[in-house]
Amino acid sequence: MEQTETNQQVQMPRIGDDAPAFNAATSQGNISLEDYKGKWLVLFSHPSDFTPVCTTEFVGLQEIYPELKEMNTELLGLSVDSVPSHIAWIRSIEENFNTNIEFPVIADLDKQVAMKYGMIMPGESQVETSRAVFVIDDKQKIRSIIYYPLTTGRNMQEILRLVKALQTTDEHGVSTPANWQEGDKAVVSPPKSQEEAAKRAEEEGIEYIDWYISKKDV
Ligand code: BEZ
Repeated sequence: MEQTETNQQVQMPRIGDDAPAFNAATSQGNISLEDYKGKWLVLFSHPSDFTPVCTTEFVGLQEIYPELKEMNTELLGLSVDSVPSHIAWIRSIEENFNTNIEFPVIADLDKQVAMKYGMIMPGESQVETSRAVFVIDDKQKIRSIIYYPLTTGRNMQEILRLVKALQTTDEHGVSTPANWQEGDKAVVSPPKSQEEAAKRAEEEGIEYIDWYISKKDV
């Protein structure tokens, strides 16, 4: 376990871990991780309400929210600001950008959730959460983690692509190659033995490139 300068314990969950449980106050009332069982969840942190990059991210996240919902995926934000601050900021986003933020945002004033998820990068800021994204699957396992620094807004299309790729892997038992987009061929698991490798070229329904790399439609 790493220690920050203020001697708080920093936990860093890893891909494949059970997502740490929480029950937290949000802009839409109290929410627990358990409430999302059976759904995928994109849990993300932002540094602070009423800041410009975060505001552009919230507008972008609301834009992709309907597509995420079509993928049985919910969005849940988090910062160390209060519920009244979240409410005021969400109202200001609606006024300035004509965008109604429909997803809840955790008010993690005591940093309980942020510390469990390793959302604070003490070398960057002791007080604000960095731009973390945790993709949690319908069994509440952490499937992917993305971190961006305070100064760089995240790419919404990449968040959508990531969720789609993970769900495609689960549905079809395949991997997804670099720059994969929905509709592209996916990568077939490499052979596990010389015998399987020898037979790979004869397999039907695949685009065979070499014994260790083949693709197929999904
Ligand atoms: C922003 O959202 O604009 C921001 C927040 C914290 C540090 C730097 C930029």
